[in-house]
Amino acid sequence: MSIDYKAEIERLKKELKVTVVAHYYQRDEVFEMADITGDSLELARKCKEDENPWVVFCGVGFMGQSVKVIAPGKRVLMPKIACCAMARMIDGSYFDESVKYMTDRGIAKENILPITYINSDASVKAKVGEMGGMVCTSSNAFKIIQKGLESGKKILFVPDRCLGQNFAIQMGLKSCVIGEGECDPKESDIICYNGFCSVHQLFTVDDIEFYRNKYPGIKIAVHPECDPEVVKAADFSGSTSQLIKYVNELDPEQKVAVGTEYNLVNRMRKKNTYVLSSTKPECPTMNETTLEDLYRTLKSIEDGHPVNEIFVDEHTVKYANLALERMLAVK
Ligand code: 13P
Ligand code: SF4
Repeated sequence: MSIDYKAEIERLKKELKVTVVAHYYQRDEVFEMADITGDSLELARKCKEDENPWVVFCGVGFMGQSVKVIAPGKRVLMPKIACCAMARMIDGSYFDESVKYMTDRGIAKENILPITYINSDASVKAKVGEMGGMVCTSSNAFKIIQKGLESGKKILFVPDRCLGQNFAIQMGLKSCVIGEGECDPKESDIICYNGFCSVHQLFTVDDIEFYRNKYPGIKIAVHPECDPEVVKAADFSGSTSQLIKYVNELDPEQKVAVGTEYNLVNRMRKKNTYVLSSTKPECPTMNETTLEDLYRTLKSIEDGHPVNEIFVDEHTVKYANLALERMLAVK
């Protein structure tokens, strides 16, 4: 007899002290089962406040890891420990090399303030925390960079070169990308690591022109992980929650094309909302989690043999927590 996953998930959620969390990029059927949803910042804040001892996180690895770091007493399971491709572009040794790149060019280590996008491994967050730095997300990067600049130090921004450059432009700051042309840290305020999101690289200025020609007056809203040229050509850029708010507040007759992951745009799609791409911009790792995975993970708690539990060593928790808490303290 086949299992009714939805009914079983509902039953298990009632019987266990568990909170199911899902990022907007999850498949619809998984997303619908969640108790907590939101952008990366909201998920971190809400999970920290949540009282259940068990968290089942449907998302990518760094998200579950961040919950474990800010709430080490919780048992965090992930139906799929899928790794965000951008987060995988940097590890502790690449981070150290980036610091060395700057010290080799005359910036003393104590004059570097690192900021890591939350899309990074806990080991990178720990290195950032040890150097007095902070985590940021796409929704608070402006404030976090502003706070970082108060130190008078050079900002080393990892791993997303697009996010770093986009906020530098928004704030009227100079930025450069390590490995792209001349990148002299003495001449820039923000020195970016050369990472990127392959999904958000799919959106191009040509896509924007296509929609502007087809539907004059259309609005274009994109995620700041898109290329700076794309963000410059758009009407609005923001985190996933900010994109949803922007689209919801438009007049229902206003056409809008949205440049972010497919599952989210498809969910918000009404008659005037379009996906800003000729291809289907799905995040492969976010899409890995299925309803069956969610059911099996919850069942493993009931059976007393939890699967896919997230563990982070004590040293990493200590310093990654500093970087995350510094972010959470910025309102
Ligand atoms: P948000 O913080 O905007 O939800 O972004 C997460 C992410 O991975 C975007 O690709
Ligand atoms: Fe990572 Fe990009 Fe997927 Fe977001 S969309 S989780 S940045 S690979």
